[in-house]
Amino acid sequence: MNILILGGTQFLGRHFAEAALAAGHELTLFNRGHHGADLFPGVEQIKGDRTQDLAPLRGRHWDAVFDASGYLPSAARRSAELLADVAGHYCFISTISVFPTIDAHTVEDSPKAQLTAAEIEAAEGLSQTTGSRSGGGYGAAYGGLKALCEQEVQACFGARALIVRPGFIVGPYDYSPRLPYWLQRMREGGPVLAPGRPERRVRLIDARDIAEFCLQQASQARGGVFITSGPDGQSMGELLQGCQDACQADSRLVWRSEADLLAAGVQPFADLPYWLPEADNAMMDIPSHAAEAAGLRYRPLQQTLRDTAQWLAQQAPAPSSGLSRAREAELLKAFGA
Ligand SMILES: NC(=O)c1ccc[n+]([C@@H]2O[C@H](COP(=O)([O-])OP(=O)(O)OC[C@H]3O[C@@H](n4cnc5c(N)ncnc54)[C@H](OP(=O)(O)O)[C@@H]3O)[C@@H](O)[C@H]2O)c1
Repeated sequence: MNILILGGTQFLGRHFAEAALAAGHELTLFNRGHHGADLFPGVEQIKGDRTQDLAPLRGRHWDAVFDASGYLPSAARRSAELLADVAGHYCFISTISVFPTIDAHTVEDSPKAQLTAAEIEAAEGLSQTTGSRSGGGYGAAYGGLKALCEQEVQACFGARALIVRPGFIVGPYDYSPRLPYWLQRMREGGPVLAPGRPERRVRLIDARDIAEFCLQQASQARGGVFITSGPDGQSMGELLQGCQDACQADSRLVWRSEADLLAAGVQPFADLPYWLPEADNAMMDIPSHAAEAAGLRYRPLQQTLRDTAQWLAQQAPAPSSGLSRAREAELLKAFGA
């Protein structure tokens, strides 16, 4: 196939580009050139800002489009309208945040987040997305905006639109402060504050598994809407033990109850990524049954953790995120660990 990627140089889009190249497809990348301009030598790169002007894409034809950089309805409309008659298939990467409540019963057609006209206008007025901030930098409006982007793509591409809604994405190139927090912390060694019950459920998905799924669906020109949240059966214990194994450092997990952590003022998720108090943990139960039935497959979590740790070890140290080491040491001391 001849594929246009809107973005393609940071995380999920980069994995999609790698998978597509490995499968022998021909690529064109459209982005501003702020990230990863040297990543794919020999691949056509068109510079432009999708929130401003897509003129450089006029007069071209593609078998498929992969869009992981759409956050604003206006930008999704502009690209979908321009490409509707010249591209065969459009894969739009959305999010499970389109659902205002998320649990084991959430399915593809569950109710979506709604925004007021004022909220949409405010978001459209914000500076353009950098694609490197959580939720594109749109805060609480993120899910509602993504739901509107989906509609724009579906309005133009109909049955040729593939809408993919990931949960927590992990893997090499992850620029979020989530899995990198745990891997970095394990690498430093010593006692590591671990939250809640080791058996508490978590649900993560490797970016490469999503990329393979999107490529497979695009190759078969299949549309539809799919939640891609990750496999059943992952736990916080398995995740943190896996991070320890992947880092092979001298770290020791010190588990503390959520009651102790909350009483000490530790912020769920922001301080210790993927930790949600049990009462809020239902979002980790959202299944991906439709995508699995359509062909989504998962690599083992241990492989994801090993590959991500290896990638992270080659990166310049990122600004620290989550619980500071000083605060963690203070808490461990207070807990008598
Ligand atoms: N991370 C998660 O856990 C998670 C969970 C659910 C859903 N998602 C969704 O998954 C997607 C992740 O995407 P990614 O960042 O990994 O994709 P990516 O395609 O690897 O990287 C983002 C790309 O978009 C380009 N870009 C950003 N703003 C642009 C603009 N205004 N005009 C043209 N190009 C622009 C960037 O390049 P330049 O900066 O050089 O332009 C970069 O190439 C997002 O849609 C996100 O909502 C993520």
